[in-house]
Order: sequence, then C-alpha cells, then structure tokens
Amino acid sequence: MIVAGIESSCDETAVSFVKDGRNVLSSLVSSQISVHQPFGGVIPEIAAREHLKSVSYLWEQAMKQSGLCESDIDLIAVTRGPGLAGALLVGVSFARGLSISLDRPLIGVDHVHAHIHGALLGLPPDTDIAELFPAIALVVSGGHTNLYWMEDPVRFRLLASTLDDACGECLDKVARMMDLGYPGGPVIEKMAEKGQRGRVSVPTMLPGKEYMAFSYSGLKTHMARLWEKNQGFQGQDLNDLILAFQDEAFGQIRRKTDLALEQLQKEDKYPRSVLVAGGVAANQSFRNIMSGFGNGVRTWFPALNYCSDNAAMIAALGCYEYQELQRSGKSLPDDADWDIYPRYLYS
Ligand code: KG4
Ligand code: ZN
Repeated sequence: MIVAGIESSCDETAVSFVKDGRNVLSSLVSSQISVHQPFGGVIPEIAAREHLKSVSYLWEQAMKQSGLCESDIDLIAVTRGPGLAGALLVGVSFARGLSISLDRPLIGVDHVHAHIHGALLGLPPDTDIAELFPAIALVVSGGHTNLYWMEDPVRFRLLASTLDDACGECLDKVARMMDLGYPGGPVIEKMAEKGQRGRVSVPTMLPGKEYMAFSYSGLKTHMARLWEKNQGFQGQDLNDLILAFQDEAFGQIRRKTDLALEQLQKEDKYPRSVLVAGGVAANQSFRNIMSGFGNGVRTWFPALNYCSDNAAMIAALGCYEYQELQRSGKSLPDDADWDIYPRYLYS
C-alpha cells in the first residue's frame, strides 16, 4: 500500500511517500526555522503562510524523488492535530483537494502519536514490528512530553504527560532567556558537551514516586532566577550550568519511565521495548540516558531525520490506522465530520 503523508502542524512543511507503513520512498521537509528565528519562536500566521508557499512544490518534488505517479497512491494521510490552527488548515485543505482529485481515501492522524512511528521507520526491513510490542512509548518534543503504554502500533494509552511545559519547550525557553539561540535543544546539547558534572547543581523535579506526570516549569523558573542573579555566567561556568540543567531535564524522563515500568509490572504488563521519539530524541545524551532498562527491554530511537517533524511518520501511522479500520469493518469519517484540533486529545 502506497501512502502519501502531509504534515503542516507547526513550522515544518513536509511531504512523504511510504510503502506498507515502513519503506520510505521519499521524504521532504521544508523548515521555516530561519523565518521565525528573529522572533525567537514560531509566529502562527507566518507559519501558515509559509506552508501555503511550499506545500505544492514539495508534493511535486517528493513525487519525482519517489519515482511514483499519482495513480500509484492508495491513501492520503494528513496531520489533523495538534498544532497551529492556520498551519493545520493548509495541510488538511491540500490533502482534501488531492483526495477529491485523485479519488483516494483521506485519513487524518494525530501528530504526537505519529512521532512514535518515527522510531519504527528506518528499522531493518526484515524487522517484524509486531515483535516490538507491547511497548512503552515516549514523545519528547517542543509541544509534548507524553508517555504511553502501547499494546500494538495503533493503540496509545496515555500514562503520563506534562503538568506545564514540555521538555523541548523548556530547553527552548531557557535558551531564549539566556540568548543562546533558537531552537534551544541543539544549542544546549553542544554547550553541555563541554560542561563538567558536579560543579553546579539544579533541584530535582517531582522526585517522589507518587507522580508519574512530568513538570518543567519549576526547572525553567530555577534557571530564570539563577540567570537574574548572575548574568555573568560565561565560558566553562556557563557550560557546567547548562549540563546540570540538561541532565535534570532528561533525568526526569528516565525516572518517570522507570516508575512506569514498575507500575506496569504491578498490572502484570511487561513491555518488550521502549520507543523514544520527538525532536529531543535527536540528542545523544538523552539517548544514552534512555538506554539500558534491563530485562531484555530494548530502546529504539528514530533515525535523526525522523526525530523532528516529518511526513513519513504521518504516512506510516496513517497506513497502520487505515488497515486497522478495514480489519474492524469501520469506515472513515464523512467529509462533513472532518475537523482539525489545535490541542492534543487526552483520551
Ligand atoms: O518534534 P519536534 O521537531 O517538533 C514538535 O512537534 O514540537 O521537536 C522540536 C523540539 C524543540 O524543542 C527543539 O529544541 C528540540 O526538539 N530539539 C532538541 C534537539 N534537536 C531538536 N532537543 C535537544 N537536543 C537536540 N539535539
Ligand atoms: Zn512534532
């Protein structure tokens, strides 16, 4: 089954063609980072206008790269949410136009869930995906820090999310406050590599075992207070501080994942894998912290090009969800029932 994926939820326009939910034939991403950089964050209306400029061009280029023609496409998958409303509408309107003109079904998928499929793309073609489940899955991105229990590739039981800021959001906000650059994650990674441990300490967030939820606003505020008091942090001292900050930002995710494993065991649930996805999964220290759970549990990360927003993950999830609908005899929503959603649906 050939699925066309379209993504436009935030500041990346992306188009991809994926065969059978696994084999990426082409995947193109047009990033708007340079457009939003002067503002230190994404400006929604500018994002929507930029999507409008790039989406058809990307479609044509991705089609050329894949060697397909339009009649080869079996299904169109598009991000329905969460994301910026105006930005989502550009991708969804484009996808609906294609669906009508090519006379192919259209499926809307959840962007956050799709990130997890980023971790499944790029596995050796002979990997049996079913063997990786049940799994614990984590999406650690600019907008979400979500932890799931997954019995199979299309069932997402949300176990925990953030009470306030997302992990990537916290990295971005702290970097912005300290004038380090945008987006913050990659800059912080570079500086932390030069830091030394044990020279600065930051408080541990939600250390108790009673909370599985994440929280980042306390850590952000701690960094803001330190920065207000001593803007003179520089050179090695600054790198040491950034390392301590990054360690806590990522350490919290490891602690909560360990806690989730403990709690699931009480329900007699034993995952075979931990799937880690989202933009922050590009960070090597984060990958180290999130490896080594023991008991034969293996951690899987996306290839670097599938950590941040892309359309291959949208096509992949669309493919699995469509096949599941067909298996269960359910139908796709009517045109009149189609809508986008700016916020994650906590269900
Ligand atoms: O998944 P993503 O591309 O977009 C969302 O759906 O939010 O994630 C973007 C986030 C940003 O917060 C960015 O700072 C973070 O991913 N990020 C990183 C790295 N690369 C991107 N964080 C830490 N280390 C990186 N190398
Ligand atoms: Zn994303």
